[in-house]
Amino acid sequence: MKLKDNVRPFLWQHTGSRLKLMVLDQLLLPTTIKWLACFTHGQVARTIVDMNVRGAPAIGCVAAYAFALAAHEKKISSASKVKSYFARVTKTLAATRPTAVNLFWALDRMNKRLDCELKLNLHSTQELSAGLESEAMQIFEEDLAANHTIGRLGAKLLPKNAVVLTHCNAGSLATSGWGTSLGVIRSAYEEGKIKKVIVDETRPYLQGARLTAWELAQDKIPYQLITDNMAAHIMKTEKVDAVIVGSDRIAANGDLANKIGTYNLAVLCSYHKIPFYAAAPISTCDFKIECGDEIPIEERSAREVTHIKNIQLAPKNTAARHPAFDVTPHELVTAIITQNGVASPPSKKTMASLLTIIPALN
Ligand code: MRU
Repeated sequence: MKLKDNVRPFLWQHTGSRLKLMVLDQLLLPTTIKWLACFTHGQVARTIVDMNVRGAPAIGCVAAYAFALAAHEKKISSASKVKSYFARVTKTLAATRPTAVNLFWALDRMNKRLDCELKLNLHSTQELSAGLESEAMQIFEEDLAANHTIGRLGAKLLPKNAVVLTHCNAGSLATSGWGTSLGVIRSAYEEGKIKKVIVDETRPYLQGARLTAWELAQDKIPYQLITDNMAAHIMKTEKVDAVIVGSDRIAANGDLANKIGTYNLAVLCSYHKIPFYAAAPISTCDFKIECGDEIPIEERSAREVTHIKNIQLAPKNTAARHPAFDVTPHELVTAIITQNGVASPPSKKTMASLLTIIPALN
């Protein structure tokens, strides 16, 4: 069974000489499909902050496109002015969300491309924008290809007739397409290996209930939605073959940050002896940091916990916390699946081996 893979969280469009990035408004899914047109890097930055677009690889891709859009926003006369202008653009985009390292990875790569263009003495708006646009498109295409490789490698780890539990959304909507953890599930489903997917609703943003369930429904992959606090009971009373999640930043030793609630699942897996897998592209690995303690954890508004879509759940003025991510220590992770291979079990050594690209995998 071949899946269609036609969900995209963003589209890069040319209308005459005008460039725009269309962003699918994920806050309105699954009930409303609405696209937001972004003509400036500031508008793209807003969609990242507001979480119209989210998911680590998708954030990296849209930031790269935003960088390319920025070349169109200003007439620039000299190379030094180009550099200081793009330093400001980088600052704006980098300030959107702190945890997913793909954002900083993509901005770094776009700045390197900018430097190459400047060395070639290309700094007219048109020349710069063509170079930056082609770099952003390459980032998008590489991510899409990486997800398909991750899917194939991850599917090999699952048994036949597998019941798999996933958290948050690490599907097409969170990437360039196909997905990381959902990419593994999609690839395994194509191979006839998936019996059922158990979807954690993922409080407070409900990425599981709204987005993962929507993607699985589109592909007609059997799934069941549970609230986050049901996972232990389901693991104890039913067969769960594996838990598979995405990741926002993976340290050099394999500790990984992912959506809040991931750590709970890893602890539960350890107790119930269920394999716990994380799937992510190499752009999610941050080899500059030794361990998970160094990962910045985004603290979002408490209102996102006390309210859902403006409906008040808790008493007025309730103090609430909203760390958007948690860190799972590598000891609790069975394997990390990337396009460059599988780190199993994750450690400084197995993680470092991912930096040696094995061409046969791609
Ligand atoms: O706050 P979000 O929705 O951006 O968080 C997303 C996640 O935690 C995903 O699991 C992660 O980015 C991996 S996406 C392939």
